[in-house]
Amino acid sequence: MEFRVKRAPRIDAEITVPGDKSISHRAPIISALSNGVCVLRGFLPSNDCMRTVQALRVCGIPIEQPEPELLIIHGKKRLLTQPSGDIDCGNSGTTMRLLAGLFAGQPFNCRLVAGSTLSKRPMGRVIKPLREMGANIVAEGPNESAPLRITGSRLRGIEYDSPIASAQVKTALLLAGLFAKGKTTVKEPAPTRNHTELMLNYFLVRTLEEEDGGITIWGDQVPESRDFFIPGDISSAAFWLVAAGAQPGGHLLVRDIGLNETRTALLGVLIRMGAQVREAVEDVDQIEPRGTVEITGAPLKGTTMQGREIPQLIDELPILAVAGALASGTTTIRHAEELRIKETDRIAAIAHNLRAMGAQVIELNDGLEIHGRGSLRGARLASFGDHRIAMAFAIAGLFAEGETVVQDADCVNESYPEFGKALEEVMNPKRQRVTTPVISSLTASRVDSEE
Ligand code: S3P
Repeated sequence: MEFRVKRAPRIDAEITVPGDKSISHRAPIISALSNGVCVLRGFLPSNDCMRTVQALRVCGIPIEQPEPELLIIHGKKRLLTQPSGDIDCGNSGTTMRLLAGLFAGQPFNCRLVAGSTLSKRPMGRVIKPLREMGANIVAEGPNESAPLRITGSRLRGIEYDSPIASAQVKTALLLAGLFAKGKTTVKEPAPTRNHTELMLNYFLVRTLEEEDGGITIWGDQVPESRDFFIPGDISSAAFWLVAAGAQPGGHLLVRDIGLNETRTALLGVLIRMGAQVREAVEDVDQIEPRGTVEITGAPLKGTTMQGREIPQLIDELPILAVAGALASGTTTIRHAEELRIKETDRIAAIAHNLRAMGAQVIELNDGLEIHGRGSLRGARLASFGDHRIAMAFAIAGLFAEGETVVQDADCVNESYPEFGKALEEVMNPKRQRVTTPVISSLTASRVDSEE
């Protein structure tokens, strides 16, 4: 499949986006370990999240899916059973890293295998601390990559000072910690998304946030079964927020998305770039804040993204780089070397595609310097098999002169299967869905942070 994209008419719309990907991995895992039936609504039925669900099923957890977004999970009080064959994680890094943590302390052996892009990604970051806990994991690929052969072992809690700000590493260790003797503490160099901690608390698992920002979990606990409503994914909304925010006069309302503070840094960046953004948290009674974001577009100006902000917008950097190319002045991204080991080397892929569209880009070891010129030209582009690159450059095409083709776009199914349909609607709107500004009816607004 490929996306053929032309310049968009003025955007004035109200949308929702599919469920949050990170939460759609965590909720089934914690439900599976719980002591009863858990109903999950708003689940993201993408390839990545289905890999996690399938892995739990082959370990003896009954999971019904009467509708794509509805899961009924029959928790087995931490009792997982030996899978009969390899567990295929596809290209889902979250599935492989979280399950490595979960399976390390089980009384059985298993093997996690990977698809073409995941096979190249580093697993040493979870293998090393899990081995410190007593895990027996052999990486069969080069440089500690998949397949991973896990021989179930008795684990002991550790204190781990992670050199990498990674929510996947943190979560793998917390899941292993649930099956370890004593307590496990994970400290990270900068705060990352905290969905696991919130969800563990919601399922009444005892954890403690340490004064230095570390998180501690005690072993041998059974999560209490709970129902959960997964909010829309702000990382998916990001594509449409940039599409409207970079269009002077564009206007978009995104309803029912997750507004967890560890995920909303992109809103601050868009404000710095000149867009008008309002967010209103409408519901926190299920732990994860959810609500509405409204954006009004403007001529964007360049900004700098770096330091502790980076882990909190790591998945939005491809689309924010596109925003930078549409802005006036320079947009700089630093301290984002993690982008080089995502589904593809995203720094190289962004630089390659932006240059093909006529932008001036300098590739840095840990980021990009983009000299925006306010315009792009249509081009034939590769997705590099990476869903976020495919979607970011489809949006770039909405602003380009002439036609843009994004090849090999099936990868969007990893996180946003409905993206192509939404893109068609943006290019060929059937009706104007929102005509009156609703900012004044929102109850809270984000006042922006420092430059
Ligand atoms: C994720 C964490 C991030 C993010 C990924 C999802 C998660 O990865 O990029 O898309 O759900 O924990 P890292 O932990 O490698 O930073």
